[in-house]
Amino acid sequence: MNLKDLYINFFVSKGHKQIPSAPVVPENDNTVLFNTAGMQPLIPYLMGEPHPYGTRLCDYQKCIRTNDLDEVGDSFHHTFFEMLGNWSLGDYFKEDAIKWSFEFLTEVLHIPVERLAVTVFAGNEIAPRDEEAINLWKSLGISEKRIYETKEDNWWPNLEMPGLCGPDSEMFYFRSDDEIPEVFDPEDDRWVEIWNDVFMQYNHNEDGTITTLKNKNVDTGMGVERVTAILEGVNDNYLSSIFKDIIDLISEISNLPYEGNEKSMRIIADHMRTSVFIAADYSSIKPSNVGQGYILRRLIRRVIRHAKKLNIDISSNFEERIANMIMDKYEKYYKEIKENRQIVLDVLKNEKEKFNRTLEKGLREFEKVVTRYEKIDADNAFHLYDTYGFPIELTVELANERQIKVDEKGFEMKFKEHQELSRTASSGQFKGGLGGSGEIETRYHTATHLLNAALKVIVDKDVHQKGSNITAERMRFDFSCDHKLTDEEKQNTENLVNKWISEGLDVTVESMPKSDAIASGAECMFIEKYPDIVTVYTIGDNISKELCGGPHVKNTKELGHFKIVKEEASSQGVRRIKAILED
Ligand code: ALA
Repeated sequence: MNLKDLYINFFVSKGHKQIPSAPVVPENDNTVLFNTAGMQPLIPYLMGEPHPYGTRLCDYQKCIRTNDLDEVGDSFHHTFFEMLGNWSLGDYFKEDAIKWSFEFLTEVLHIPVERLAVTVFAGNEIAPRDEEAINLWKSLGISEKRIYETKEDNWWPNLEMPGLCGPDSEMFYFRSDDEIPEVFDPEDDRWVEIWNDVFMQYNHNEDGTITTLKNKNVDTGMGVERVTAILEGVNDNYLSSIFKDIIDLISEISNLPYEGNEKSMRIIADHMRTSVFIAADYSSIKPSNVGQGYILRRLIRRVIRHAKKLNIDISSNFEERIANMIMDKYEKYYKEIKENRQIVLDVLKNEKEKFNRTLEKGLREFEKVVTRYEKIDADNAFHLYDTYGFPIELTVELANERQIKVDEKGFEMKFKEHQELSRTASSGQFKGGLGGSGEIETRYHTATHLLNAALKVIVDKDVHQKGSNITAERMRFDFSCDHKLTDEEKQNTENLVNKWISEGLDVTVESMPKSDAIASGAECMFIEKYPDIVTVYTIGDNISKELCGGPHVKNTKELGHFKIVKEEASSQGVRRIKAILED
């Protein structure tokens, strides 16, 4: 049995419900492009919203981290990874979390205690030393010399980041045949981190203050790729059972050995897997020049470039063969992979063909530039982007191979001038991080439901939500509609939302089977995205009823005054409203 199955079975046996992986693009959280941790889709529930599956949950979550995209090529960086997690939403706390972690490691994975060490929180001005965790580990047989305390590292996500947080305890495995030192040394890289138990008790507010949460939660995270490699005793993640067959296939297609070609083969294996998961996701991302679509484009184009380096015939169906192998491995675990197989293959092929049409010419142009100039200036870099579809990272990568510099800053400026750079890319969304579930966002979230309901009354009962995006400053709502709203429609919609706000309607939440929710007429955007048991939020006496993960305010009077600031076309048959809430 593989690690994922062992993990889920174990936590189910401890009373946890398995929940499906959320889509790779977070909903109602535009601080990041992709989910970067297992807990991210659970933020509303960790903040206190009831979860339809109860208070003990476990899953494997698709995660994508693109901030170290350029590091991929070594033995352990990945842009896509799966994170195993078990959660307590105000249910069990430290004692069970630590006991079960220990039991899983030693009795299910059969890791000898001698190979384990842990780190714990030493205490600082924010919170006291984690005596409880220290004593628990001791009672389980971890020697004091293997319990290492830190003031800063054992806090998740970190001491600066606003949002949910708390002390944590990390578990380490000694990955070497050398004699195991008695004392744990964090500088010794033969000790590798395998799991993190976060004892989430606080919310770190934007103003720097810390509030204790209503419920004490447990959030844990274990990286499937790393732990699988460790358990299989390989030092290169790409040689574990997760990647080995994909690497072998790339080797077969290119007719080259892995040794000596590791970098390109790892990049192809990693980026193909990430592209497959992005393209198969229910968030329907296609390659483009903005946001998530731009990441997908960069990944696929980088695959093509490295395939070319390995002399793979780009016009062959090599990408299809690799993608199919990846999908064969994962379709058992992710139904979107099974359902969207053809979509994935089409996305890959189309983007490949699009890029391949200009790649050769672009590479020749690049050669011309580097023979003529000592440096690639902004104009040249932009020309390669604009005319030949070279993402700047590709130009930089090619230039690095020749030890030539690229004026990346100048390029960025040109890029912005041409209004091509997505707002998200420039606002630091490539970084990991949490957020987007503050009080203001919560108010906007409820306002979104009211707006959706008001449009149905004023404009057309068949108006449906097509998208939504919330920041602390405003909300944006896309909906199906075949005409530009008249001033009267806009005014009446605004008035109706404000009327509902002033009526002080209660917002209630209940869990039910998905089929009952649909039968009750609850509104939802992508039905297939939801698990079998769902939460439904109702405002007032059925003024609005939507499938939704929250969070929401308790009563509409918390919203303030609603104002539509703009109504415009979004795409064919879709209109977009921007609105704000005023005090
Ligand atoms: N959220 C914690 C992590 O990502 C478990 O390490």
